[in-house]
Amino acid sequence: MIQRSKIYRSKVRERKETGEECILAQKKTEEFEKNQGAEKSGENKAMEAGQYLDFFEHEAGMFNIVGPKARKIIGQDCNIISACAARPYPLVVDSAKGSVIRDVDGREYIDLVAGIAVMNAGYSNPEVKAAISSQLEKMTHCAYGDFFAEPPVKLAKKLEELSSYSKVFYCNSGTEAVEAAIKLAFWKTKRQGLISFYNSFHGRTLGSLSLTCSKARQKEHFPAIRTAHSHYAYCYRCPFKLEYPSCGIECAKELENLIFRRELSPKDTAAVFVEPVQGEGGYIVPPPEFHREVRQICTDNDVLLVADEVQTGCFRTGPFLAMENFGVRTEISCLAKALGGGLPMGAMLADRKLMDWPQGVHSNTFGGNLLASAASLSSLEFLEKENIKNRVKELGFKMKQLLRELQENFPFIGDVRGLGMMVGVEIVKPDKSIDPIRRDRILREAFKEGILLLPCGDSVIRFSPPLVITDEELDSGLEKFQKALNKAGT
Ligand SMILES: Cc1ncc(COP(=O)(O)O)c(C=O)c1O
Repeated sequence: MIQRSKIYRSKVRERKETGEECILAQKKTEEFEKNQGAEKSGENKAMEAGQYLDFFEHEAGMFNIVGPKARKIIGQDCNIISACAARPYPLVVDSAKGSVIRDVDGREYIDLVAGIAVMNAGYSNPEVKAAISSQLEKMTHCAYGDFFAEPPVKLAKKLEELSSYSKVFYCNSGTEAVEAAIKLAFWKTKRQGLISFYNSFHGRTLGSLSLTCSKARQKEHFPAIRTAHSHYAYCYRCPFKLEYPSCGIECAKELENLIFRRELSPKDTAAVFVEPVQGEGGYIVPPPEFHREVRQICTDNDVLLVADEVQTGCFRTGPFLAMENFGVRTEISCLAKALGGGLPMGAMLADRKLMDWPQGVHSNTFGGNLLASAASLSSLEFLEKENIKNRVKELGFKMKQLLRELQENFPFIGDVRGLGMMVGVEIVKPDKSIDPIRRDRILREAFKEGILLLPCGDSVIRFSPPLVITDEELDSGLEKFQKALNKAGT
């Protein structure tokens, strides 16, 4: 029995790797759709339908979770949408309010990841909706790269007020904000080398992908800009097998002691890119000295420092920019995700002395989009008005504390770490090695319990709820998480 299930799992993994499970689900759905003509009783129909989501059904026993509408849409999705994205469980969304998402079959979920740290002001936020509606009545798009308009200027003033950077470049996503920072650094320094950190994630277009160093799969077969990688302060799995604080932050010093000496001269380095807290790489929070040391090394070697605040920015960790937690100011800061209040919006921030490139060097079609600018401004104003910085500190502390209590009862929780409302739980085997299979099982059990969580790193579960989540929702979400741990623990 165990052997059979092992073989099944390895087959499933094999299919997951190749995207074959999607094709399988699609074929099964086609079969299902053909059989839809024959009337069957509700329960039988649900059981019948259950056969058609092969991967999720057999591996995770989701017979009663995936409703008929969801099945149909997943089948159609697999047929027509590129399979390159990885979905951890079969959620088909329909509507949402605050921190709760309703799926197409009417089942509700507490969203503990906020659409990957995007919905900081909550779903269907009335103020953001009103701002969008009001702009919608006027116009949605104006080729802001060619003409002028007020909404992006108002937003830029708000960004200056919140961040103290005096110049803004708009784009539509995180990867574009990072690309813009790469280009500005190249343009300004006339150097063409970059440095980033192991486990980092900076996006998937070719420039940002050169910096990304999270999973080899993300880079396979793609060419790169010259980039050297240095070690981040992943204290739970210290690359130098040292202990904080006696380590003396050896990892940060590697930049100077190894990279600049042996791999990439500072004279060829346009910029060092760093996430204040590593996101996709495993919600890794460095000790405060790490960023200060990196800052000092960049200053000493006359190299620009760029903070990728795509995930950490917009109050996710308390202050508007997460680098404020470390008392570090970088030359460039990149924003996206939560910036648009749920609409696509990215920005690169720098001071006017640095961002002094002339007309025509860089631009795009949708950057500063009117609808996105209106949503962004109202979302930031809302978060400010709610004094969200303090609330994030309070809720983040509570979330970490409750998860640490769970850690005492579940030995496979190796580490609980976080900054503000960005908390990671690392799932491990008894010998502390990674356990992605159990991690994925927990995610699916959590989904069955009615909470949405996502993976990151090799073996980590990330918590990044909307910043407006209520205490009751958080308590209920963590109770459900405990149930999921119980089920996945056996
Ligand atoms: C730190 C960081 N930078 C860049 C990106 C890329 O953003 P996008 O997916 O909007 O291109 C992400 C996305 O997860 C991110 O977390």
